Amino acid sequence: MNLEEVIQATWEKVKNIDDKGLLASYIPELVNVDAESFGVHISTIDDTNFGIGDYRERFSVQSIAKVLSLSLAYSLLGENIWTRVGVEPSGTSFNSLVQLEADKGIPRNPFINAGAMVISDILLSNLENPKEEFLSFIRNISDNPELNYSGKIAASEKSVGFRNVALCNFIKSFGNIKNEPSDVLDFYFDLCSLEMNCKELSDLFLFLANNGCKISDNSPILTKSQCKRINALMQTCGFYDESGEFAFKVGLPGKSGVGGGIVAIHPNHYAIAVWSPKLNEKGNSYKGMKFLEEFTTKSQLSIF
Ligand code: DON
Repeated sequence: MNLEEVIQATWEKVKNIDDKGLLASYIPELVNVDAESFGVHISTIDDTNFGIGDYRERFSVQSIAKVLSLSLAYSLLGENIWTRVGVEPSGTSFNSLVQLEADKGIPRNPFINAGAMVISDILLSNLENPKEEFLSFIRNISDNPELNYSGKIAASEKSVGFRNVALCNFIKSFGNIKNEPSDVLDFYFDLCSLEMNCKELSDLFLFLANNGCKISDNSPILTKSQCKRINALMQTCGFYDESGEFAFKVGLPGKSGVGGGIVAIHPNHYAIAVWSPKLNEKGNSYKGMKFLEEFTTKSQLSIF
């Protein structure tokens, strides 16, 4: 089967569907994109690269960065991190506060905002210059020195981040945030402000399809077991309370962001990134979900 042909045909089919999604407007700066943008890029272990549509346009990766901050924390501290954050799907929206009270400040998983804040706190406690060192970590994985934060997006989110401020302070009240909440939040907003295009995103995430090893020289970023576990978390928690639906329809571990990006992994085979900024009611890219469903159905390349 020719992957390029399948992607091309899928893209043609999905690009004109009636997109019922809406731009994420709760972060003011996120509406400054062309709402009709639609790009796809696939990177494979055996070095096939193919992109279509707006795959060279950078966008705000938002929650997709949570997989990378988790990878760094996991590589530094190993299994110890699971005393601070759980590994169960939350079944709630990404910014929900409700379970934290009953769970005594231990977030259900590292991909909801609460969990990503605890991971940010762990990185703050263990790195001298977390902002710079995180950037070096991801630049090194994909040998891409161009990857960077957007100060504009981070400032925009910070100016309206009242719910995240509440979440971080609430977790602090249970003792599961060790640093100053304002420092944790600043780092968290920086992580979420990372900008990449579909090619950069699929190239970067390819290490998770390669047993946790960097593609260019096969050096380990994560152990095989850590990589398996991060992929398992993407499968069960990567789309918040639409994770079951994504597993059902697409059948790949993946992660979405409110900038409209989705990245998905086929272990030992490929990473694929899709970007279309209008989101469905669960906060996941409307067209991105449709594209991946159609792609794995047509190509029969899902993990199930
Ligand atoms: O904290 C937030 O609300 C955003 N920085 C990230 C949320 C996000 O991307 C959820 N994704 N679907």
